[in-house]
Amino acid sequence: MAKGKTVAFFCQECGYESAKWLGQCPSCKAWNTLVEEPVASAKTARSAPTKRFRNTAEPCRLSEITAGEEERISTGLAELDRVLGGGIVPGSLILVGGDPGIGKSTLLLQICHTLADGRKVIYISGEESLKQIKLRADRLGSFPKELLLMCETSLESIEAAIEKEKPSIVIIDSIQTMYKEEVSSAPGSVSQVRESTGALMQIAKGLGVSVFIVGHVTKEGVVAGPRVLEHMVDTVLYFEGDRYAAYRILRAVKNRFGSTNEIGVFEMREKGLIEVKNPSEYMLNGKPQGASGSVVTCSMEGSRPILLEVQALVCRTNFGMPRRTAAGTDYNRVNLLMAVLEKRAGVRLSDCDAYVNIAGGMKMNEPSLDLGIVMALVSSYRDKAVDEETIVFGEVGLSGEVRGVSMTKQRILEAKKLGFRKCILPKTSMDGLENVKGISLLGVAGVREAIALL
Ligand code: TYD
Ligand code: MG
Repeated sequence: MAKGKTVAFFCQECGYESAKWLGQCPSCKAWNTLVEEPVASAKTARSAPTKRFRNTAEPCRLSEITAGEEERISTGLAELDRVLGGGIVPGSLILVGGDPGIGKSTLLLQICHTLADGRKVIYISGEESLKQIKLRADRLGSFPKELLLMCETSLESIEAAIEKEKPSIVIIDSIQTMYKEEVSSAPGSVSQVRESTGALMQIAKGLGVSVFIVGHVTKEGVVAGPRVLEHMVDTVLYFEGDRYAAYRILRAVKNRFGSTNEIGVFEMREKGLIEVKNPSEYMLNGKPQGASGSVVTCSMEGSRPILLEVQALVCRTNFGMPRRTAAGTDYNRVNLLMAVLEKRAGVRLSDCDAYVNIAGGMKMNEPSLDLGIVMALVSSYRDKAVDEETIVFGEVGLSGEVRGVSMTKQRILEAKKLGFRKCILPKTSMDGLENVKGISLLGVAGVREAIALL
């Protein structure tokens, strides 16, 4: 940025900064998202990251640092702890993103239940009044008396309150409502969100306070304006799910203190969010009996296998152009698998419409679903149901080969636990499975071999 400049154009989607207006953001390729915003002057911006919170930094030897077992704070919700990598790390900054109304405020208020027990927690809302929070809290059950609530949008006041109270956990309900006085643009704008998060980061690191930040997501599926936020914070969690379905999935997109593949599954009830301890059972609920085109497969989400039902409907096309849709999985992947079936297994799908759906509304993209999708398509095409007690998984390559997948044993054990008796899996993943009893394993090397088992 040139010296003395007071305005710049910011992309509201990703925070890209440009000296002049552009129709398309060069960084995230979104159209019409650049808006003019005043720039925090270099002086205020530099002095702003409140020095009083900073630790004096001096180089020290790695060997002299005693970390020990990282102490973690449990949230009282095992599903959330898992996604966080075992609990909250003191002094970390956690962003919880999601569509409006998905349940972010509910989740964070709910964890105060356990967190505020013997610890100082401040829940700061810029969206709801104290009365509204109280009403919600009443629905969620009884809370420890010590829980502190605050309705505030000015970061300066929040900083002062945190300094005075010295809490161990702070929850900021929606970063889009917060503002810093020295930044002249409106709350929710890129500069405000960036500066506010910067200030909160100073607090988190300087005072060792864990800070949860709620961020709303725009229609495009990124936290409004601030994708900038994603690389400032330690952990990014997204809360997703169909607003109209009861279950919600919490997914870690970034985690400096744990794996990012983990998911947590919840169900929204009248009395708040309930953990779903066995998502496989939940996802297979309502599976049709003896219907063609329905196959159970297994996807690994982090360290946890989840069984799901893949459904396919294949019928003759009425128009020249066959119609294909994919819900809950990658459309292009479905097209590719249909091409493999046509070319490598001789199944004539080119004049058929095909609809593929992951039942239950979950979004899954793991390659091990490939074989399940293939089997569902062929089962529907031939109108022949797959045996009820069979589970299928494996990655399909372009030559029609079935490739190995990771963590085979965990998948098989999960299937066995839910009463499956037969498993069709990649031949190359069969090593070391000799001692798995009670479920018959059929290794296949190619698509042709797999569909012959139908
Ligand atoms: P909320 O946490 O306010 O969403 P966000 O903060 O992400 O915008 O969730 C609001 C929705 O949750 C609302 O549609 C009602 C529903 N809800 C329940 O079903 N049960 C409950 O106990 C609560 C508190 C909310
Ligand atoms: Mg809310």
